[in-house]
Amino acid sequence: MPTAVITGASQGLGRAMARALAARGWSLIVDARHAGQLAAAVSGLSTAAGGPGVVTTIPGDVTDPAHRAAIAAAIAPAGRLDLLMNNASRLGPSPQPPLRSYPLAELGEVYQTNVLAPLALIQLLADPLAAAGGMVVNVSSDAATDAYPGWGGYGSAKAALDQLTAVLATEEPGVRWYAFDPGDMRTAMHQRAFPGEDISGRPGPEVAGAALLRLLSHRPPSGRYRASDYPEASRAPGTQRGPAVTR
Ligand SMILES: NC(=O)c1ccc[n+]([C@@H]2O[C@H](COP(=O)([O-])OP(=O)(O)OC[C@H]3O[C@@H](n4cnc5c(N)ncnc54)[C@H](OP(=O)(O)O)[C@@H]3O)[C@@H](O)[C@H]2O)c1
Repeated sequence: MPTAVITGASQGLGRAMARALAARGWSLIVDARHAGQLAAAVSGLSTAAGGPGVVTTIPGDVTDPAHRAAIAAAIAPAGRLDLLMNNASRLGPSPQPPLRSYPLAELGEVYQTNVLAPLALIQLLADPLAAAGGMVVNVSSDAATDAYPGWGGYGSAKAALDQLTAVLATEEPGVRWYAFDPGDMRTAMHQRAFPGEDISGRPGPEVAGAALLRLLSHRPPSGRYRASDYPEASRAPGTQRGPAVTR
């Protein structure tokens, strides 16, 4: 049975992916800092239609080495790891300040969460990922490639995550490495990024989640992909290749 680690699974894109994979029979190891919200988000998933998968919740902060070690230890019963989704992320101050006045201590926190913690998890989980010929999804942003005023902290951290992903693809060819840009999503983080704005017109995170499922089913070469690269039409029967995400 395929197994995934998803960080930041209590809401937004992480929760959408947890629900989608659980419904396809995957076992999951999921985290978020707020234990109650995480438990509520995955409640009933292990008995969801589609599968006998086991859902293990490990509340904690991805920047905490002991928490990351607990995630790694939780893989042992499953005996395999097919997917690591580094999704948990820190926006930084809201509203976001220009770089000339960006608080450096907060910038350090943004890099700890968005760059160093994902790499630390990759280092811990590289062996089981390689053994399974698995996949790593590092969730990126258009702020990694496009320059927007105020987005220099978060955006540069996501750019660093993109580059880590690209280099890892050259160093560890037995694993598929994806930097995935989900596009705008109607989530708590998005509302914090645009305080006071009406974001009700943005797509919900399940739209980007469905695109990511299609990407994982296609199992393209390692690289940087956007949700818009995998629109609904690409789910046509017969287009799926590689180990099936759906089963
Ligand atoms: N929303 C957008 O428009 C958008 C656009 C481009 C890229 N993205 C990226 O997409 C990903 C998902 O974003 P989202 O909008 O779905 O976020 P979200 O709805 O705010 O959810 C974030 C999740 O991460 C958890 N989390 C945050 N910090 C954590 C930490 N230090 N340790 C463990 N868990 C943590 C949160 O739970 P707790 O608070 O309980 O920890 C929550 O479960 C992020 O990587 C984000 O940068 C989002």
